[in-house]
Amino acid sequence: MNYLIIRKNLQHLRHFGLSIKYPTYANENTRTEIKLIEKSNTVGANSVRPSNENTEERIIEPVYTLEDTDFEYSLRPKRLSEFIGQEKVKENLKIFIDAAKKRGENLDHVLLYGPPGLGKTSLASIIANEMGVNIKSTSGPAIEKPGDLAALLTNLQDGDVLFIDEIHRLSRQVEEILYPAMEDYFLDIIIGKGPAAQSIKIDLKRFTLIGATTRAGQLTGPLRDRFGVIMRLELYTEEQLCDIITRSSVILAIPTAQEGAKEIAHRSRGTPRIANRLLKRVRDFAEVLGDGRITKELAKIALDRLEIDNIGLDSLDKRLLTMIIKGYGGGPVGLDTLASALGEEAVTLEDVCEPFLMQLGFIARTPRGRTATALAYQHLGIEQMGQQKME
Ligand SMILES: Nc1ncnc2c1ncn2[C@@H]1O[C@H](COP(=O)(O)OP(=O)(O)OP(=O)(O)O)[C@@H](O)[C@H]1O
Ligand SMILES: [Mg+2]
Repeated sequence: MNYLIIRKNLQHLRHFGLSIKYPTYANENTRTEIKLIEKSNTVGANSVRPSNENTEERIIEPVYTLEDTDFEYSLRPKRLSEFIGQEKVKENLKIFIDAAKKRGENLDHVLLYGPPGLGKTSLASIIANEMGVNIKSTSGPAIEKPGDLAALLTNLQDGDVLFIDEIHRLSRQVEEILYPAMEDYFLDIIIGKGPAAQSIKIDLKRFTLIGATTRAGQLTGPLRDRFGVIMRLELYTEEQLCDIITRSSVILAIPTAQEGAKEIAHRSRGTPRIANRLLKRVRDFAEVLGDGRITKELAKIALDRLEIDNIGLDSLDKRLLTMIIKGYGGGPVGLDTLASALGEEAVTLEDVCEPFLMQLGFIARTPRGRTATALAYQHLGIEQMGQQKME
């Protein structure tokens, strides 16, 4: 099981609303500082990426990094009413939850997909909270053998939620066990090998599976079809991010002016996780350079120093755009070619840079590869020459 050690005082931990596990000590009263927190309940098995995995640390990395752990718990919304934005998703979920509760049934299986850091894990625990059931969290790569999944499933009670993060990374073998479990609530397991092999059926309680993925396209058809509810999370608007930053600054007791929050929201590339991280970094600047208050000016200074430009692009985004423009004449250029030219992984470019750059209209995907648009040239101050200009 995953354990995280969080160096916070006990009161702070209680404020997080987490299940706190106390190791047994000879004299418990003397130990209130460091506790082990069972990670399975609230956070799920996020793929924790060390912040310095790449050559260059990206502050606007939307993927969960170790740096996020110490304050992510407190900022995670616990109820649907606290969850800002994604109105369509919320409205529909509310109806499905209310209907299931009214009928006294479990909720249908839910698939949440969208770019990293938009609130999939948060929504999964919110759904469990709203349904008033327990949630068990794991992730695709953590379930190695069919037996691992069987153990998880047989421990679920009626209505319980099993949250599988990165569900597209389940092995085929495990996935096949999941089909009858999702559809008819039984496990079909083969024990032994050769002629002595026996197939046994185990009935399961009526659970709800919540799957989360950043890449719905990689999910196999049969698995996708077994989800009754499929929801896509969208990048957030600036106003929504501003509300999220304001909420977080209240929770973290950071005095933040509305204009300061706006400035951070503007550069958070539509992602709450980035917004929260930038808020924390800007707070450091505000405490050292100012009186601790996050004003518009201070936010600007801090974000400029962090090399996040006025629309939220960081150096990797700019390197990507410059590579397409200067290295490949504006494109089209294939993703893998770009990735190796930049020394980055193709998934990073695809999951992290592209959704935002495409939303800005800076790059376009064509069957032959990525191209930079006129807006990208403009933003980088590069004159557009050649074919496109002559048109
Ligand atoms: N709608 C929201 N309102 C308020 N805070 C939010 C919202 N969505 C996300 N957050 C904040 O962003 C952080 C990241 O959200 P979460 O971990 O749920 O994203 P995710 O989609 O699961 O990311 P990943 O794909 O990396 O697993 C959370 O800690 C939470 O504080
Ligand atoms: Mg997650």
